[in-house]
Amino acid sequence: MTRRSTDLVPLRLAVLISGSGRTLKNFIDLAAEGKLPIDIRLVISSTAKASGLKFAAEAGIPTQVVRRQNFPAGPAGDQAFGEAIFAPCRAAGVDYVAMAGFMKLAPVPPDFAGRVLNIHPALIPAFSGHGMYGHYVHEAAIAAGVRVSGCTVHFVDNQYDHGPIIWQQPVPVFDDDTTDTLAKRVFEVEKEAYPHVLNMLAAGRIKLDAGRVIFVKPARAKH
Ligand code: GAR
Repeated sequence: MTRRSTDLVPLRLAVLISGSGRTLKNFIDLAAEGKLPIDIRLVISSTAKASGLKFAAEAGIPTQVVRRQNFPAGPAGDQAFGEAIFAPCRAAGVDYVAMAGFMKLAPVPPDFAGRVLNIHPALIPAFSGHGMYGHYVHEAAIAAGVRVSGCTVHFVDNQYDHGPIIWQQPVPVFDDDTTDTLAKRVFEVEKEAYPHVLNMLAAGRIKLDAGRVIFVKPARAKH
């Protein structure tokens, strides 16, 4: 018997955004179609200007805005900002926190280690790190002349776009690509890759072992 997404216990999720919220919208739509076993308990944005907040509001998901500017510059401020992000996630009782176009550094507190995910629009470690987001990533990939780019879903540690890699999906880079055409092609695979990882997590098929991701074989159906 094939296991469907809807047979799985939904993952309780907080989603962190900073911008247009296309990734959040994809999660909300797939969950509504019964294709993604998630229960989004909370959306936190690093800015009140993030247009993605409207998708949460439309879906009746509680939202909060936590601005980095409200904390001092430097590592102590990063730490305080991280706490302000993760405290409501803790209070909401989420299993995982999914960064979805979240553009700030938020150090992961010990109780969330291995429970924070991010998607990056390149095959990390290429074209990643501070300042590498959105179109800058695709501009850098085209400038470097790579023939393949793609997206990466990874667990988050305390550096930008860094941590154990869970899943990568490649796309070709063509001679006539612009940042827009490449961004569009990469985003199409992002819409599959992140849900794929969430489905695998809900099925208990992803484990962290000494800082590396291993895939657990699916349990065999009983007859
Ligand atoms: C996605 O392309 C994601 O890979 C990127 O932001 C976009 C999602 O934002 N993330 C990064 O660049 C992280 N370094 P959106 O869902 O608000 O459109």
